[in-house]
Amino acid sequence: MSEPIAVLVGSLRKESYNLKVAKVLAKLALTSLELKIIQIGDLPLYNEDIDAASPPQTYTRFRNEISACKGVLFVTPEYNRSTPAVIKNAIDVGSRPYGKSVWSKKPAAIISVSPGAIGGFGANHHLRQSLVFLDMPTMQQPEAYFGGVANSFDDKGDIIEKSQAFLKQFIDAYSQWFEKTK
Ligand code: FNR
Repeated sequence: MSEPIAVLVGSLRKESYNLKVAKVLAKLALTSLELKIIQIGDLPLYNEDIDAASPPQTYTRFRNEISACKGVLFVTPEYNRSTPAVIKNAIDVGSRPYGKSVWSKKPAAIISVSPGAIGGFGANHHLRQSLVFLDMPTMQQPEAYFGGVANSFDDKGDIIEKSQAFLKQFIDAYSQWFEKTK
């Protein structure tokens, strides 16, 4: 039986490279994992007042979807050397109400994706800081800073072989990490 793994994509752009990479990862994953891209773009900015009074339906939907998954993959761009607000907001929504975090103990991994040369290093490591606090065992190796992504898809939109091999190595390592830490 496949284990459901939530995939959070930190870009809302239709033509997002991060979304393309997430879809490639979903195809490359061993059949033991079922990668599910979870919608985060519809979550209102976290506000404890509205959460306490009457949680928006989108918060409840999101928390239920993450709770039903056994692990979490973060596929994130870098915005101003950090994690985009949309992904941080999703993390904040999932971490509340206090004591009911949906993240706790779920094996995680991060891949940062950028057209730039540094491969989203800053976003990758800022995100890692939150996952430490949220008690998510997060894969450390291989590190995955996917730079130069604009050159990794051919004219037909297919991923080039070298980049596919990099992603395969990453997702197989996550599969092993998941088995070890779940
Ligand atoms: C960026 N971009 C960017 N890239 C990078 O490598 N480091 C950075 O700090 C930033 N900062 C940044 C801020 C903002 C507000 C935007 C909109 C963009 C460029 C970014 O990597 C590029 O737009 C990617 O294509 C975004 O990922 P998606 O949307 O293609 O998945």
